[in-house]
Amino acid sequence: MPNWSEFAPGHWVGVGILGYHLFLTLMWIVLKLTLRRRVAPWWLFIGYSGVLLLVWPFMEISRNPWWRRKWLVRAGVKEGDVVLDEGFVMGTSSIVAARIVGPKGMVYALDNEPVHVLILWLRARIRWVRNLKIFLSSADSVNLLDGIIDVVYASDSFHEFPMEQTLKELYRVLKPAGTLAIWEEHEKKKVTNALNQAAERGMFSFIEQEKGVYKLVKT
Ligand SMILES: C[S@@+](CC[C@H](N)C(=O)[O-])C[C@H]1O[C@@H](n2cnc3c(N)ncnc32)[C@H](O)[C@@H]1O
Repeated sequence: MPNWSEFAPGHWVGVGILGYHLFLTLMWIVLKLTLRRRVAPWWLFIGYSGVLLLVWPFMEISRNPWWRRKWLVRAGVKEGDVVLDEGFVMGTSSIVAARIVGPKGMVYALDNEPVHVLILWLRARIRWVRNLKIFLSSADSVNLLDGIIDVVYASDSFHEFPMEQTLKELYRVLKPAGTLAIWEEHEKKKVTNALNQAAERGMFSFIEQEKGVYKLVKT
């Protein structure tokens, strides 16, 4: 029988990191064999995940779960809602949203980067989050039925999407009078223009618009 007390905590950290990278390698092989789109080379896939793990603690401090909860509540997310979180990186907002909506609600989390999808998939399993469905897709082609979403939430990600096509797609998946909540730190001008154009076309009307916070309702 091994004497478990001989294993220092550092050993388990090492085993964890090795296990995580073996898992990523396996996932890379699965993605390479199953995905029709191009998958980044193995070294980039593993390297990027390493960088993400290094910056993650800083992201969790600067945008911590309490801060995220505040934004989600301001966006209008509440118990029982069906939420779409677009562009989630490590997925902390998606997990917090899943806690807010509770077992009667559902959160769909979408990102176009396979490493992000794998990380959130792992986190959701480790944290026993059952009401979270994660998928790999572009923001402008959401694989969901028409009119099923109460709140679309995009924090600091909308500027990276093809805006016009994404707004059309979000209009399609939102319920009548559903909410589109966007929080932007970058490219506010570009985002404001795209949202103004959508409002002029009669797709959405503004509820709130100040300092990178945009809350709109489907009209
Ligand atoms: C700056 S990060 C978002 C930060 C994150 N929402 C947060 O609150 O910490 C932008 C995210 O959008 C994703 N993204 C970029 N373009 C996308 C697209 N066309 N479709 C889906 N996700 C996209 C990126 O992979 C990345 O995860």
